[in-house]
Amino acid sequence: MRNFAAVAGLTALSALTANSIVLPQSVGDQRFAADEAAAASSQNVKRSTNDGVFAKRNQGESIRLELNHSKRQPLDSMDKVKEFAANQKAYVQQKYGKKKASDAEKRQVAGLVDYGQDSFYFAQVAVGTPAQNFNIILDTGSSDFWVTDADCRSSQCADVALYNTGASSSSVQSQTPFQIQYGSGAVRGTLYADTVALAGYTVFNTTVAGVTQLATGTLRSPTSGIMGMGFEQLATSGATPFWEVLAKSGTLQTQAFTFQLQRNKMASQDALSSGGVFTLGEIDGNQYQGDITYTNLPNSQRGRAGYWAIPLDNVQLNGNTISTSGQLAAIDTGTTLIGAPEDIADQFYSQIPNAQPVNVGGEQGYYAYPCDTNLNVAFTFGGKTWSISSADFSGGTVAQDRSGQNYCLGAIFGANLGSGAPEWIVGDSFLKNVFSVYEYEPTPRVGFAELKNGQAQNAPVSIGLVPSGTAANRQQVSPASSATASTGGGVGPPSLSVDSAAATQTNIVGGSGLPNPVAANAVATASVSTVRNGKESV
Ligand SMILES: *[C@@H]1O[C@H](CO)[C@@H](O)[C@H](O)[C@H]1NC(C)=O
Ligand SMILES: *[C@@H]1O[C@H](CO)[C@@H](O)[C@H](O)[C@H]1NC(C)=O
Repeated sequence: MRNFAAVAGLTALSALTANSIVLPQSVGDQRFAADEAAAASSQNVKRSTNDGVFAKRNQGESIRLELNHSKRQPLDSMDKVKEFAANQKAYVQQKYGKKKASDAEKRQVAGLVDYGQDSFYFAQVAVGTPAQNFNIILDTGSSDFWVTDADCRSSQCADVALYNTGASSSSVQSQTPFQIQYGSGAVRGTLYADTVALAGYTVFNTTVAGVTQLATGTLRSPTSGIMGMGFEQLATSGATPFWEVLAKSGTLQTQAFTFQLQRNKMASQDALSSGGVFTLGEIDGNQYQGDITYTNLPNSQRGRAGYWAIPLDNVQLNGNTISTSGQLAAIDTGTTLIGAPEDIADQFYSQIPNAQPVNVGGEQGYYAYPCDTNLNVAFTFGGKTWSISSADFSGGTVAQDRSGQNYCLGAIFGANLGSGAPEWIVGDSFLKNVFSVYEYEPTPRVGFAELKNGQAQNAPVSIGLVPSGTAANRQQVSPASSATASTGGGVGPPSLSVDSAAATQTNIVGGSGLPNPVAANAVATASVSTVRNGKESV
C-alpha cells in the first residue's frame, strides 16, 4: 500500500481509551463479506459495529488487559449530533450573535469536532449541488477523499449521512473503482467528481469516492468519510487533493493550512466536543504565540512519498535523550497516537519502571506503564523541543496487576512500517500540544508553535460552509447547519465563477478519467467569527 495509514497500525478511527480500543485490522474480502452479511441480516437495526473488537481480551503476559465496557451504550448518534448542534447554536449566539464581522475578522476557518476523549477530529465538508453536508475527518496522513454513498449497504452506513450522487446536479460519474486500506479499516466504492466546499473554499470537479463497502470498524458515526490532506503522490485515486488544488492554483492567500486540536480528556466516550480549529490559506497570528519553528520536508519526500514527513531529531523522556536522527516522522492529524520503530519503542519504555508490553486484542507493539508514573515526554523537531502533556501521553487505564496497580496505555506504540514509509507517525497525542502548520510554498515544510495562551481555540463548525438547502441526503442534521443558522443565516451559495488562473493550471489532475478539479475563491460569508479562547464545552 502506498498509503502509509495502511501500515500504520492505528488511524484516527482507532479510539484508544480505557473504555474502547479499536484495533488495527488486516482487511480482505472476508471482512467485507462479513460486514455485508451482517448488514443484510440486521437491516435497519443499529448495531455497534465494533463490539467484536472491543470484546477481545488479551490472554496474558503479566498484565491482564481489562477493557471497561460498562460505559458503552448503543450509539444514537443523530441525537448526539442534534444535541451538539443545539449547544453549538446557543454558544455561537451568545458569543457572536450581536457582533458584526469586520473584514479583519474574516478567516477561512472551520471548527473541528472532537469525538470522545480525542479519538478523532472531524470538520464539515459540503459535497454536490445543492450542498450535502458531511462530517469528515481531515487526515494529513492520506490523500484520498471519500464519502459513504447512498448505495452503501454496510451496517456502518446505517446511521451516517450518505452522499446521494443522483441528487447532485454537479456530480460527474466514472466507472473507476476505488479502494483504499488504512491501518484500521478499508473502503471500496466508485470515483465521482463533484463540487466540494470546506472552510470557505469551493473546488469544482473534486474527485471524491462514493463508498459502498466498508470493512468492519472503519467508521464511527457521525462521520461519513475522510478527506486526505497529504500530497497528490499519495492519492490512490491519482487525483489532486482538495487543498492542493487550491494551493497550486494560487487561490490561497498563503499556501498553507493549520490545525489546533482541542483536548477533551474528561469527555464521555462517544461525546462530541469542540475540537479546535482548521484554517486554510492563512497562518493566523491570533492562533499561536512566539515563533513558528519550521522543518523542511527533505528532498527524499518532496514530490515523492506524499507525506508531511520531517526529520525527528530526538525523543526525550524525563530528561534522557533517545536519538532518532535521520528518522522521518509523518505528521498525521488522522492518527490518534504515535507510531515509532519497534526498537525505539522498546528502548523508550525500558526507561519507565515496570512498563511492559501489552497485547491489545492480539495486537503487539503496545506498552502500558503504572498510571502514577511521572512522565515528561518531549519531541525535538528542527532543533526545538515540544513537550507532550502527560494527559496526552496516557491512552487511559488498560490493565491492572495483581496488587491493584492501574496501568495506562502509552501513546507511543511500536510498529515497523517498512521501506518507503516514514519511520514515525506523529499523531494527535503530540499535535494537541502545538499549533501545527503545513506549508506548500515556497518550500514544503511543517511548522510548530505554541498555542495562543497555551490552549487550543474553538470556532463554530460551519464557518464558510455552504448551507445544505434541501439536500437529498437522508440525514440533514449536523452541527454545521445549525451553527450556520445561528450566525444569522446569511451565508450564500458558493460563487460559481471559475477562477481563470486555476483553469489554466496543468498540474492539477482528477482521478482516472475524471475532469480536472478547478479552484474557486472563497465565498465571503455574511458573518464569520474569530476563533475564540477557552475550553468551555459546547
Ligand atoms: C468502568 O467504568 C465505570 C463507569 O465510569 C466505573 O464506575 C468503573 O469503576 C470502571 N471499572 C473499571 C474496572 O475501571
Ligand atoms: C466539471 O466537469 C464536467 C465534465 O467534464 C464539465 O462539463 C464541467 O464544466 C466541469 N465544471 C467545471 C466548473 O469546470
